[in-house]
Amino acid sequence: MKQIVFATNNAHKLEELRQIMGERFEVLSLADINCHEDIPEDKPTIEGNARQKAEYIREHYGYDCFSDDTGLEIDALDGEPGVHSARYGGVAHDSERNIDKVLRLMADVPMEQRTAHFRTAICLLMDGEEHLFEGRVEGRILTERHGTGGFGYDSIFQPLEGDGRTFAQMQPEEKNAISHRGRAVAKLVQFLQAL
Ligand code: IMP
Repeated sequence: MKQIVFATNNAHKLEELRQIMGERFEVLSLADINCHEDIPEDKPTIEGNARQKAEYIREHYGYDCFSDDTGLEIDALDGEPGVHSARYGGVAHDSERNIDKVLRLMADVPMEQRTAHFRTAICLLMDGEEHLFEGRVEGRILTERHGTGGFGYDSIFQPLEGDGRTFAQMQPEEKNAISHRGRAVAKLVQFLQAL
């Protein structure tokens, strides 16, 4: 079976990809290839970061590889937090601070101007070629938190194509069916299955 590395430390994302691709590919984690260092991720775009992480693995470990990067892009904040989504509040992966900052900056923004989208870029490096896949979901930033599921900015993001619930009020399967990451992964899987 062909081996491919998913350059992530997120066990949940890894398991999801293994379930989808397990019959065709052996999806290796960073731990599986003994990569325990921090992979650089300092480019100004989500595509750049996804490419940087995948290239790092190919150069240092020699595997075909893919990597993802996601940003929440809010129109009223000129596309911020974007590539800074994970540490927008100043501390990496502190979602409560990140949300507090967004709500504070948007305190005076009326509902019709609270449009935003999540965007995921996946970079696949395979057989010497690079392939980029993008997934996107449109929505609105609410004025307060709703729901306790999900992670990150889910409790303030209301997807347009839903029934008014935020991502944090949906079951994981419901979110995955319309989410930025779900859509980018679907494109990756479609590409790999057609090989
Ligand atoms: P990553 O590139 O997947 O690590 O995502 C970067 C940051 O974007 C995360 O730390 C979260 O704050 C945010 N984020 C990514 N995906 C989601 C999501 O599905 N819901 C809410 N926030 C997300």
